[in-house]
Amino acid sequence: MTPSSTFVELNKSVHNRKSFDCGTEELNTFLQQFAVRHRDAGISKTMVLTSKDDEGAICAYYTLSHTEIERQSLPQSLAKKLPHYPIPVMLIAQLAVNKKSQGHGLGKISLICALQHAHEVNLHLPSYAVIVDALDDEVQGFYEPYGFSVLDTDNHRVRLFMPMKTVAQLFTK
Ligand SMILES: CC(C)(COP(=O)(O)OP(=O)(O)OC[C@H]1O[C@@H](n2cnc3c(N)ncnc32)[C@H](O)[C@@H]1OP(=O)(O)O)[C@@H](O)C(=O)NCCC(=O)NCCS
Repeated sequence: MTPSSTFVELNKSVHNRKSFDCGTEELNTFLQQFAVRHRDAGISKTMVLTSKDDEGAICAYYTLSHTEIERQSLPQSLAKKLPHYPIPVMLIAQLAVNKKSQGHGLGKISLICALQHAHEVNLHLPSYAVIVDALDDEVQGFYEPYGFSVLDTDNHRVRLFMPMKTVAQLFTK
């Protein structure tokens, strides 16, 4: 699968959601059953990177949404500057690469594109940070080299964050 050069918004009449397999059932099911429904409900937006040589096939996708965190979940040095009510943050709710394309840098590209997308939204309506939920300890290791820190853990799921100020530095010359 040769990936296209840019992510586009998921379109159910153009993109083949059924053939997508990243090896994690939860993330396959989200793309196949919920991504369009959630977009239509106005609660998230899913972007896909299609294949150049397999029409409609999806090499990678990410989903952006909003959520809130409690200031107490942040390190004290950051929390003390924030109000006591819930803090708005942007959420990379899903991010996955097709098994056929894994190990060639598409995970990294998808994350950078998702962060850039979050940064662009943030220019219009600020959020405090970008949050990601790693499905397990191993995937936590995928996010940490890019500057994400652990916010909290729930069962095996690890929630990580990167302050939006740090994200902005990545895309500001
Ligand atoms: C995790 C995932 C997105 C990585 O995609 P990928 O295209 O294989 O990753 P890349 O080739 O871009 O790798 C980038 C870096 O992350 C590392 N990496 C890849 N998968 C990793 C994992 N599961 N855990 C830790 N590090 C990982 C690579 O070794 C590479 O490191 P390097 O830059 O030092 O060489 C992909 O394996 C996937 O979709 N997995 C199933 C779904 C999933 O777990 N999604 C994460 C959201 S919870």
